[in-house]
Amino acid sequence: MGTPEQVRERAERLRKELEHHNHRYYVLDDPEINDAEYDRLFRELVQLEQEHQELRRPDSPTQRVGAPPLPEFAEVRHRASMLSLSNAFGEDEVRAFDKRVREALDVESVEYAAEPKFDGLAISLSYRKGIFVQGATRGDGATGEDVTPNLRTVRAIPLRLPQAPDTENLEVRGEVIFYKADFAKLNARQREAEEKVFANPRNAAAGSLRLLDSKITARRPLRFFAYGVGISAEAGWKTHSELLDRLNEIGFPVSRERGVVQGVDGLMDFYRSMQAKREKLPYAIDGVVYKVNRLDWQEKLGFVSRAPRFAIAHKYPAEEQATEILRIEIQVGRTGVLTPVARLKPVEVGGVTVTNATLHNEDDLRRKDVWAGDTVMVRRAGDVIPEVVGVRKKGSRRKEERFSMPDKCPVCQSPVVRLPGEAATRCTGGLYCRAQRKQAIIHFVGRRAMDIEGVGEKLVEQLVDRDMVESPADLYWLDEKSLAGLERMAEKSARNVLQSIQRSRSMDLQRFVFSLGIPGVGEEVAKILARHFGSLRSLLAADWPALAAEKETLRKENAKRKRKNEAPHEVPLEGVGPEIMDSIGKFVHEAHNRKVIANLVDPARGVLVRDAATAGAATERGIRSRSGKTFVLTGTLPGMSRDEARALIEARGHKVADSVSRKTDYVVAGQEAGSKLAQARALGVAVLDEDGLKQLLGKR
Ligand code: IVH
Repeated sequence: MGTPEQVRERAERLRKELEHHNHRYYVLDDPEINDAEYDRLFRELVQLEQEHQELRRPDSPTQRVGAPPLPEFAEVRHRASMLSLSNAFGEDEVRAFDKRVREALDVESVEYAAEPKFDGLAISLSYRKGIFVQGATRGDGATGEDVTPNLRTVRAIPLRLPQAPDTENLEVRGEVIFYKADFAKLNARQREAEEKVFANPRNAAAGSLRLLDSKITARRPLRFFAYGVGISAEAGWKTHSELLDRLNEIGFPVSRERGVVQGVDGLMDFYRSMQAKREKLPYAIDGVVYKVNRLDWQEKLGFVSRAPRFAIAHKYPAEEQATEILRIEIQVGRTGVLTPVARLKPVEVGGVTVTNATLHNEDDLRRKDVWAGDTVMVRRAGDVIPEVVGVRKKGSRRKEERFSMPDKCPVCQSPVVRLPGEAATRCTGGLYCRAQRKQAIIHFVGRRAMDIEGVGEKLVEQLVDRDMVESPADLYWLDEKSLAGLERMAEKSARNVLQSIQRSRSMDLQRFVFSLGIPGVGEEVAKILARHFGSLRSLLAADWPALAAEKETLRKENAKRKRKNEAPHEVPLEGVGPEIMDSIGKFVHEAHNRKVIANLVDPARGVLVRDAATAGAATERGIRSRSGKTFVLTGTLPGMSRDEARALIEARGHKVADSVSRKTDYVVAGQEAGSKLAQARALGVAVLDEDGLKQLLGKR
């Protein structure tokens, strides 16, 4: 590779880049590239420094782990450094590791402890006399951040251990992580509240743990798994697996997936069986970790500068591949957003053939500097839409081929706009635009919206293209005759379609509101709106600017009250930000939308929208006329026994269930209500006391 000068420059550049990405990753929790790309740069530098000893620097990223702690937290010096692991990317490297280990120990075969490599944040937890006294992040390995108050909020971390010689003075190490499902929910919430959306569960865990306000951390469902100890006195364990068993015994979560295997073949079997389970695991893993099981052997093997010699991380191949962009096209979405999409030379990524990948928006495309003809990295993880991560190799890049956002919608030719402060470019055609109309209807019939089975994308395309359906309301005017002429529409399927349309004619307010596809209104916001307004009529009658102003005033007032240590006022529509309120206001006052909604709830052909119980007074509207609500009883009610309450509820045609879930409509809580009440709060289920229950059921 090139002249000495070029090599020196390349090494310098790599160092700068790695420092930059280190900073983004460790300090800002906001990486620009993924681990696989980082690893590639890192390995290139390691190799350069190995081949050209004179290029080695004590301050090179290869010589240190992570970045310095943020200044806001107190610093903690780790009593024993928190090290990193070397990586192996293939079987050869695992075999080489095993060979090194066997040779250093001078033995034939080695027993290993194998476990998942959690993709979260490493922490250490100090216990004195069995009490949790301090917790810290890894930081740069020698010094971390004191995040004790935040860690105290993590339920998986025991605050007290059984009294025993080995819990007198113990430092446990492990990983704070986010479960995939919790992560998805958190991001949905963040998006709806117009707050920061996290790139991956690792960043969500890191971001949540490093909040200066531990009250916010408490609302984030962080998890913890222990995988080792830093300091321990009076340890009774002889192997790593015994150590994990003991940690588990005294109250720490330890991965159920851990195993003990013999030799390198055992390691490879473990690797493959975890890979098969990987997608189904509740948490993200980026590899597996192998550790020499015998602790006396671990000690004998010791450490090299950055990592232990007795352990290695075996990484899974990244879910990304290189391929060529054939062209860049524009897709128009439900809310009119124009998304540049790369049409790709087909490529297999993580077992699926990918032909399209999103480029998100104009800025993203510019930042990544993507052109048609370039070879790019495409990433696909789980079920998410494949995306272009970055350019691998530039194509011919003739000027006239440079992509630019059109100034007219490619579908309806309406002008497009890009509002200040927004990344999205939008078509102004509204439901005049066929693309938006189609997407609006596809959203409307979706499983989580009106759940109209049998009406899929293909059918919607036909219905719109033939001008049979202009808005979701027109679906309710379809009949067998009109459906008969369509492609792939036998008599029976036509009947099924009409039946499922009929079935959707009674719908609860929350789903109905979500189905309308108001920009910014996802399921969470729809739920809040239904709770607040109770009926479609009052939601449509609301004065949105006035509501927004009221909310702002209350917010300011509450800030004052907080300083004075007074209890805050309840803020209406908590979780619905000003921009969403503005969007709802615009949507419901737009003449076309009002007409569509009016047609949708036309008593003759349309949907009967069932009122919701409002948060405060669940009541006057009553639910007597509606049937099939699910109640859960908890605690002792002052004036009636549990059986009486059950009888009352069932007599009104409702159901009593044993446990709280998303399907629960009401939790009736008496004295000493326990975990069910907490669950209700966590899921946002309405909670009633005895009076509330009686009022609701019309018994007073
Ligand atoms: S053992 C001395 N075990 O990987 C060895 N680390 O690159 C210390 N990690 O900072 C680490 N799962 O954040 C170990 N089962 C596991 C792990 C694990 C994830 C992380 C940890 C560490 C990094 C090392």
